[in-house]
Order: sequence, then C-alpha cells, then structure tokens
Amino acid sequence: MAGSTFGTVFRITTWGESHGKALGVVVDGCPAGLPLDEQDIQRYLDRRKPGTSSLTTPRREDDLVEILSGVFEGRTTGTPISLLVRNTSQISRDYNEIASCYRPGHADYTFDAKYGFRDYRGGGRSSGRETVGRVAAGAIACKLLEQMGVKVCAYTRSIGGIEADLSRFDADAILSTKTAMPDRDADQKATAYLEQARAEYDSVGGCMECFVTGVPAGIGDPVFEKLDANLAKAILSIGAVKAVEIGDGTAVSSRLGSENNDSFRINDGTVTKATNRAGGILGGISDGDTILIRAHVKPTPSIFRTQQTVNRSGQEIDLQIKGRHDPVIVPRAVVVMECMTAVTVLDAMLLNMSARLDRIVDFYRR
Ligand SMILES: Cc1cc2nc3c(=O)[nH]c(=O)nc-3n(C[C@H](O)[C@H](O)[C@H](O)COP(=O)(O)O)c2cc1C
Repeated sequence: MAGSTFGTVFRITTWGESHGKALGVVVDGCPAGLPLDEQDIQRYLDRRKPGTSSLTTPRREDDLVEILSGVFEGRTTGTPISLLVRNTSQISRDYNEIASCYRPGHADYTFDAKYGFRDYRGGGRSSGRETVGRVAAGAIACKLLEQMGVKVCAYTRSIGGIEADLSRFDADAILSTKTAMPDRDADQKATAYLEQARAEYDSVGGCMECFVTGVPAGIGDPVFEKLDANLAKAILSIGAVKAVEIGDGTAVSSRLGSENNDSFRINDGTVTKATNRAGGILGGISDGDTILIRAHVKPTPSIFRTQQTVNRSGQEIDLQIKGRHDPVIVPRAVVVMECMTAVTVLDAMLLNMSARLDRIVDFYRR
C-alpha cells in the first residue's frame, strides 16, 4: 500500500495493522547524537493508549515500545530508527461480522472498493491503532525540537458543544483529565455529556488545538512545501479529522482586510505582530509568532445502535456492531496531533538548513 511515508528529511514510515502481530515506525533522517531511550517514547504512547479512562475503549493495551535499531549506547546513530509495539489485546472474533459488510462512517467499503480484499480485523490499517507509529516517531521529533527551544502542545478545545475556557488554561489538566481539556470545569461538563451519549449507544465529535512556540521566522518553503499546507496534510491524515484551520481559520472569510491583517511592530529590535490572526504563518513561512492549528474530529463511526448498511453480496441489512470503541476520539487523538505537528515542523526546520548560501558557506568553512 502506498502512502505510508511522510516527510522529506525527517522521514517516517508507519506499518502494521490493528490485529496483526505488531505495529511500528521507521524513522529515517534523525540526526546522530540525540540521547534517546524507550522511556522518552513510552511517555507519549501512554497518552494515546486505550483503557486509561472510562471514556476510552476498555481495550487494555500495554503498547510497550521496543527500539530495534538506530540507537547505540543511549544515543541516536543517524541510521534508521525502527520502533516496534506488539499487539497484545486483540479479540478478532468481534469483527467477524464486518468481514462481509460495511460499517457506516468507517473505511470498510472504500478499502474493499480499492483493493477488493481487506484485513477487516479491528479495521486493519484504517484503525486508530495505526497512530501508534506516528506517536512513537513524534516523541523523537518533540525531543529534537526541545533541543532547539521549540515546544509543541495540543489539547482538546471542545467536545460536542462544550468548549474549554482558555482564560483558565491549566496545562496539567491536559494530561490528567479524561477529556484532555485544559479546563477542569469544561472537562466535567464534557464527561457528563459523553456518559449520556455512551448510554444512548451514540458517539460525539470535537475539536483539538495545537500551538507551537519557539519556531523562528523563516521556516517552511513557498509553493508546494508551505508550512501550513504540510501541517494541514499531516493532521488531515489522522483518521476521523475532517477539517483543519490555521490561526483564525474559517473566521477570516467574513472579515474585512483591515480587520484581519496583523500589524507589524518592532520590539527590542525584532519584528513582531500586534495580533496573531495568521496563526504564525505567512506565505507558507513561519513569521516567528506562535503557530496555531485547530482540527475538527468527527464522532466515532463505530456506534452500538442498529444501523442500516449493505453487505458484500449487495443486500441491504441491519448492522449491530460489536467490539470495543471510544465514544469520542478526540482525547486520544490529541497526542497524535501534537506528534504529527512536531514531525512536520522539525522536517521543515531541517529542510531550511540549505536555504541560504551565506549560512552554508559559514557552516562548511567553520
Ligand atoms: C486515536 C484514534 C482512535 C480511533 N478509534 C476508533 C474506534 O474506536 N472506533 C472507530 O470506529 N473509529 C475509530 N477511529 C476513527 C477511524 O480510524 C476512522 O474514522 C476511519 O479510519 C475512517 O477514516 P475517516 O474518518 O478519516 O474517513 C479512531 C481514530 C483515531 C485517530
């Protein structure tokens, strides 16, 4: 299957199916010398794994990462880093029914239409478990970015109509609440709403936000490698993400230019902006301000209500899905968004190393 590789210099290839032996990622292009061990990666995987709260599927998956290559004596060697997570909690018989029919809202029909054959167990490659490899790679990207003073932070902005109040922004709450909201009041309201949806055999959508600080002006390339275009692709490639906004996003379409432009100012000799409606990117290139991205996520397609669908023999049938599914995807996808953002920004920063002759000459003359 094509399409499993992302990035140009920092290049990741994810592999594996939901109910196969294992999933993982190969990261090529990571510079040598980065201190790295399993714990650095495990911290991120633990934020993604199911079974950690009543709002995620009761699947218990340890998701323990093994580093197979590319690290020697605790540091990256500059060679491909291969990371593996074994699948240990699969109940494939839950999926026997969808072998011959198509879940509404999922990828069963389109995979069959394309390949004529699919690994239906747990959704195979279209499962949310595919994101294990992205998160493992993103953990490395985050660690590299930290060394350059760049910080990436994602959180749940809203679930259903319940929105986090960012004036109460509590970074600890992102890691400790069930919803990954940075606002404990909103977390409680959203949790009650989700419990109700779950009791009614339904699911809920939501919105996640991610900001990146410390990116200098000048990162990203014009035309086809625009930083905002690459971020949109990275994040839209996460299952169930249906729309991405940069900065004020869709709100700009109803504004006047005078309302939308960010005025430039000089602050301590540096060019800054009075506001950040652009979300830190102009012309596909970072402007030195905080990069802000928003992603809209649809409700979990696998719901336990009886639904109308069709089977492979062309008959219309009623379907009652079994298996274990999140009533909301957003809390587990937040770390995936953080990691895909980190991979994209890091790749753009590494690509930028060859942008200016004076700096290339400086580097090789040194
Ligand atoms: C972290 C994560 C967990 C997910 N968990 C589920 C799940 O439990 N059940 C389900 O039906 N879909 C789940 N999905 C969504 C499906 O993978 C996705 O909707 C499906 O592949 C169809 O792709 P599309 O929604 O992008 O069109 C999850 C996605 C992510 C990113």
